[in-house]
Order: sequence, then structure tokens, then C-alpha cells
Amino acid sequence: MSPWSTVWITGASRGIGAALALELATRGCQVAISARGTEALDELVGESLRRGVPGRLVAYPLDVTDANSCLKVAQAIEAELGPIELAVLNAGSHRPLALKDFSPAPFIELMQLNFFGVVNGVAALLPAWRKRGAGHLAIVASVAGYRGLPTAPAYGASKAALINFAEALQPEFAEAGLELSLINPGFVRTPLTDRNPFPMPFLLEADDAARRIAHGLEKRRFEIAFPWRFVFWLKLLRLLPYRLYFPLVRRITRP
Ligand SMILES: NC(=O)c1ccc[n+]([C@@H]2O[C@H](COP(=O)([O-])OP(=O)(O)OC[C@H]3O[C@@H](n4cnc5c(N)ncnc54)[C@H](OP(=O)(O)O)[C@@H]3O)[C@@H](O)[C@H]2O)c1
Repeated sequence: MSPWSTVWITGASRGIGAALALELATRGCQVAISARGTEALDELVGESLRRGVPGRLVAYPLDVTDANSCLKVAQAIEAELGPIELAVLNAGSHRPLALKDFSPAPFIELMQLNFFGVVNGVAALLPAWRKRGAGHLAIVASVAGYRGLPTAPAYGASKAALINFAEALQPEFAEAGLELSLINPGFVRTPLTDRNPFPMPFLLEADDAARRIAHGLEKRRFEIAFPWRFVFWLKLLRLLPYRLYFPLVRRITRP
């Protein structure tokens, strides 16, 4: 059985978040699931009932870019389901960008969702967590945040910001008795990556990713990055000087 009785997952209506919600409910948690689309959330609740999981899913529709709504939803979950013991801030999106289409709008949009959506979630959770001196925060970033990659200047920047944010917060979290995990997945088959026109190396299914995330969270790891063989090469790339990194990355990502 899982160590958490109440969990909150954002971006939980499909993809990684939905698979993780079902995985944690299978492990006995009651999981508050948030996303904008109420229909998809209700369908997932229905799916959990069909599967007869020991835990349960409860829908809390939310747009994570709205700080006030994040606070209201966090307070409603605590009032109705009990203290949030684990929060997985996972809502996010990706849009490839070419130089010829450069404009500020898609950068602002992705930062609002991928980065400030997480900041809003943390701000909503911290008052109760600091009072209790308990709470486990998990931030879903990406291996795309390790180094700059072609066509991902907005997505990669938002995920690099999250990695830095998590590293910066960890020491104070630990001092306050709180836990922090940083989830950096490689490619996972979801509606988001179904749009990719290129072959994705080491592609995982969403339920496989969810099991790896649940396992890493139960082990209380700071970084949960997978699949390991892909992560290993990307971490090596991180060590290369620019004069070697740029020619190599051009060769690897050339269509
Ligand atoms: N799939 C991969 O290969 C991969 C790899 C590394 C990292 N990641 C990260 O993992 C996370 C989930 O990715 P995914 O592939 O599962 O994506 P996905 O299938 O597109 O699911 C995204 C989820 O986020 C929700 N969402 C989007 N905008 C929202 C908003 N403003 N407020 C609240 N919820 C919102 C969506 O529901 P609504 O549209 O109904 O709101 C949906 O539930 C993202 O942060 C992504 O960057 C994914």
C-alpha cells in the first residue's frame, strides 16, 4: 500500500497525469485530479470505478495558470478529502518553435503554464504544509530541461526553469520538514507526443512511466529520471563543452 492517503495531481485528465492517478489509486490513495476539461476528468473517474481500484479519484477542475483558483482548489481538497500529503504538479504542454515564426506569445504562454502553473500550485500548498511541517511536492519537468535543444527554446527554457526552481527550493524544504521530488521523464507516449513527427528514442508507455514515478516517489528520491539508458546519454551531453555539444546535437537532431 502507498504511504499517502490524499494526493493531488494537476494535468491529470490524460497522458502521464491520468496514468499516475490510476496507478496511485491502485495503490490505495484517494487522488484529487485536476485539469481544465471536466468531461475527461469525469471519464477518468468512471475508468477507476470500472477497474475497481482500492483508492478513489475525485475531480477538481482547474486552470493552473490562475493562482487564485489553485488556492481555492487546494483548500477544497483539504476540506473535503483531508490533508494533501503528496502533490504532483504535472500540468504542462509543448510546442515546437522555429526561428521563422519567432514571437513572444508562445514563450509567454508556455512559461505561464509550465513554470508559473507550478509556482501557483506551490503557493497554494505551502501555507498548510509549513504549518503542519509535512508535505511531499513533486514537480514534473523534463530531460529537455537539461540542455538547450533545437526547436524547443520555449519548452526547454520552461523545464530548465523548473529544474533550477526545484534545486533552489530543496534545502529550505528539507529544513521545513517537507519533501521535494523532481520528475524528469524521457519520451512517453501521450496525446502530447503523439503529435511528434520524428521517431522518439526509448519511448515508454504512460502506465510504465506512472509505475516508475510512483516507485521513485515511494523511495523519496529527489530526481526521478527515466528511462535510465536515455538519461545517461543526456547527462553526458550536459558535460560537453559548447564546441563539441553544438556539432553533436545538430547531427543527432537533423531530420
Ligand atoms: N510525454 C512526454 O514524453 C513527456 C516527457 C517529459 C516531460 N513531460 C511532461 O509531463 C507533463 C504531462 O505531459 P503529457 O505528455 O502527459 O501531456 P498531455 O497528454 O498533453 O496532458 C497534459 C495534461 O495537462 C492538462 N493541462 C493543460 N493545460 C492546463 C492548464 N492550464 N491547467 C490545468 N491543466 C492543464 C491537460 O488537460 P486540459 O487540457 O483539459 O487542461 C492534460 O490533463 C507535462 O508537464 C510535460 O511537459 C512529458
